[in-house]
Amino acid sequence: MKGIKIRGVGRGVPGNIVTNQDLERIVETSDAWITSRTGIQSRHFCAGEETFSSITAAAARRALESAGVEPEEIGACIVATLSGDTLVPSAACMLQRALGLPMDIPCFDLGAACTGFLFGLHTMECLLNASPRKYGLVVGAENLSRLINWEDRGTCILFGDGAGAAVVECREGWPSISAVMGCCGNDGLLRVPGPEAGGRSLISMEGTKVFKFAVEVVPWCVDQALKQSGKTVEDVDFFVFHQANARIIDLAVRKYRIPPEKYYKNIQDYGNTSAASIPLVLSELREQGKVGPGSRVLLVGFGGGLTWGGCLIEFA
Ligand code: UT7
Repeated sequence: MKGIKIRGVGRGVPGNIVTNQDLERIVETSDAWITSRTGIQSRHFCAGEETFSSITAAAARRALESAGVEPEEIGACIVATLSGDTLVPSAACMLQRALGLPMDIPCFDLGAACTGFLFGLHTMECLLNASPRKYGLVVGAENLSRLINWEDRGTCILFGDGAGAAVVECREGWPSISAVMGCCGNDGLLRVPGPEAGGRSLISMEGTKVFKFAVEVVPWCVDQALKQSGKTVEDVDFFVFHQANARIIDLAVRKYRIPPEKYYKNIQDYGNTSAASIPLVLSELREQGKVGPGSRVLLVGFGGGLTWGGCLIEFA
């Protein structure tokens, strides 16, 4: 079994910023409530020329550039999303066309909500083990602003749009990312209806229950990923948690006594971007030089499905 490492990362973020103060004018809420309960101060919404496709392509192009990898070298392309433009064609197929990826490779979307990027990395590791090409493109992209239920102040303040991408490389002798994952079918806690609704698809969530689920499942993901990889908390250079709520991250940080220089929050700027949240963090960390070649990063995702997972991945 060959393992994968991250060769390059990139992000695509709409320029249109919506602050908590902007939301105060639309729904009955306050900046103080949103900040104290979630940590969110603003989020980005696609508008005008900036669309799901454009931010997805921008993130992927930047990841290829930072990896120094040409589109024709890519062996598989996965877009993790719950908010693509169309059910068919998949976002990944449209990305194949936009970037000029090879036509003899699998390109497909992956639906695991906020755990999608993590499931995508694991799937990519499996695919590249069986591919003649050594590079893979994994994208997490969301345009959640079009799924927001503005009648529900408990959820409408949470979500944002964005895309993050990673080019991974697979090589003999590299360790597996030791992905651990879980699912538990539940359509009551977190739901975005599909065509069955016959109308608009809007996000609904039992926030407090999902919060409790997250607080239980995050340590499971950390412990199991460490166990599977034979590493300890001290062996990890950086912890990247899905950005759903700053309080969930704070609880994990406290539990594992993670020092401030080893974790990162950007939820204040983006809100919850579901599948995009982990690669958005990775892209900012790399840009700021907080991680680089050899850095070992522990990723934890959780969300709708319900789904959850963790893995330990290195930068090449
Ligand atoms: O990414 C997938 C995974 N998602 C998550 O992990 C999300 C997990 N859940 C959460 O982050 C939190 O549950 C929320 C941020 C969604 C909600 O926070 P909460 O502390 O669980 O609040 P709550 O829903 O229990 O509401 C508390 C109070 C209620 O008022 P009363 O009944 O106590 O009078 C709500 O009506 O806050 C009220 N409230 C608001 N007030 C002002 C709810 N939303 C708002 C709002 N502005 N936007």
